[in-house]
Formats: sequence, structure tokens, C-alpha cells
Amino acid sequence: MLNYDQPPPRRHLLPAHWFCAADSFARESEALSIRLPWRYAGLVGDAVADGADVESCGGFLFHRQRTDAPPLANWLGPFAARLELMSPALAAPMGSDAVEFAANWKILVENTLDDFHGSTVHPHTIHPAVDADWRQHLHTQRHGPHSHSSWKLSAATAQWWEKLVARGNLSRFAAQDRYDHTFIFPDLYIASFHGTLVMVHRVVPLAVDRTRLEWRSFLPVDNPGDRKGDAFRRSLAAQLALSARQVIEEDRPLCEMVQAGRASATGPGMLGWREQRIGDVHDALAALLEA
Ligand SMILES: [Fe+2]
Repeated sequence: MLNYDQPPPRRHLLPAHWFCAADSFARESEALSIRLPWRYAGLVGDAVADGADVESCGGFLFHRQRTDAPPLANWLGPFAARLELMSPALAAPMGSDAVEFAANWKILVENTLDDFHGSTVHPHTIHPAVDADWRQHLHTQRHGPHSHSSWKLSAATAQWWEKLVARGNLSRFAAQDRYDHTFIFPDLYIASFHGTLVMVHRVVPLAVDRTRLEWRSFLPVDNPGDRKGDAFRRSLAAQLALSARQVIEEDRPLCEMVQAGRASATGPGMLGWREQRIGDVHDALAALLEA
């Protein structure tokens, strides 16, 4: 339980040049490809580079980048079990999409790790889906630079999902009336709803001030041969794809404004108790960049 009577720990955030300068971006890209022990490489069934040293955790593939890397399960810590748990859903792809942001990739990561931004940036999309007393029900677990946050769904949203599961013959990898967000450093995050819909996001840096966010959605079913259920699921998939894009289009202008203002900030920001996931990412990057 967080003790809000105590001030949050002071975190050392990266200075602005890591968000704005092309030569810093080149140094960072090299550090991430050489010094990071493991990096997300895609999902089982994806084409991965020939000769790459790749291991799987459930349906998630990771590229071993260092010969002295710890075992993958150790690197992922408690989130290896979470990836395994969600993996059965990956057999049921529903769709994919991507949006480019005029912002540094770390701003997208900071944004997605900001557990408080739902109420302000997504007041009509994500925010009504979670319990009104969401602060009380929000649980966060951290392991090095990786982390997981879990929100209780509102009763109306949980009931909506119950009906979808029944009408669409959806299967659930877990009976969880929650919205879960798992982040694996530096570029993978997975959102899941009600223990059924799984959305795998990848943050792809293109330039110091340009990033593509790619995502793939999965909706597992109990009875894939059922034609009536198939038609319902296709309609549901189209609706969920539109909603997912709308949410990302709400994030994009915010991230782009932060990018535009970063260079003129008087110094690195301060993080509150609920923003420690962001501090963990800065710590891990600082260690990689200083090594
Ligand atoms: Fe968002």
C-alpha cells in the first residue's frame, strides 16, 4: 500500500537531449541493441532474423542480445507468468493497426506508464470503463524496468463483457474483471480486458522525434466453427478496432505537445507515487547509457 503521507522517492530523469538530439538517439539505439540482455522480437509464428538467438515465453519471443544475459525467466521476473497466462489468446488474431507519432519513443512509453492519464486524456473512452473508485482498486507491481498495473472494471463494463463472452462464445484465459497493462522494457506493452481481449503493442523508434506505435489484437473463442458466432465476432472486432484507434489518437497530440515542449523544459520533471513505473524506465536507460 502506498503511503501518501511520505514524499515519493526522488528519481533521476534523463535530460532533454535524449529526447531531442539526433546524435543522442544514435548512441541510445546502439546501447539498446548491444547492452540490453533481452529484447522483444515478436510473437510465435512471426518471421525473426535468421541466426538470431531467440527464446520464447509462452507466445512471446525475445532476442538474446548478450552472451552473459540472465535466463529469460529471470529477466522477466514475475511477468513471465503473466505472458504465459495471456498466450493462449494469441492463437486468435483479430486485427492489427499502427499510428506514427511526431515524438520520441520514450514519450510514448512515459504516456502508457502514466496510470493516472485515463481520466484526463481518455475521459469518454477508457475512463468510464474502469471503476469510479479506480484509485482504490489500482494495483501496480514492479520488477526492475518492467511493471504491471491492473484496474478494476466498472460493473457496467464487466457486465458488457459478460454478454459479449456469452454471445460471441469468447474464451477467457483468466476470470479477471480487470483491465491489465503489462510493460516489458523497453518497447513491449500488453493491454488485456476481462481476461479475454489481448492487445500487444510495440513502440518502434524511427528517429529521435518520430515513433510508430504498432498493435495487434486477439480475441480468443471457444467455438471457432460457429457461423453465427463468427459474424458477431467480426462485428465486435470492427467496433473494438475503431475504439482502439480512437484511444491512440487521443494519446498522439498529447505526446506530440510534450515532445515540442521538452527542449524548453527548465529541467527534468518530478514523479509522484503513481509515476514510479516511469522512473524505473529512466533508471534502466541511464544505466545502459552510462555503461
Ligand atoms: Fe492513453
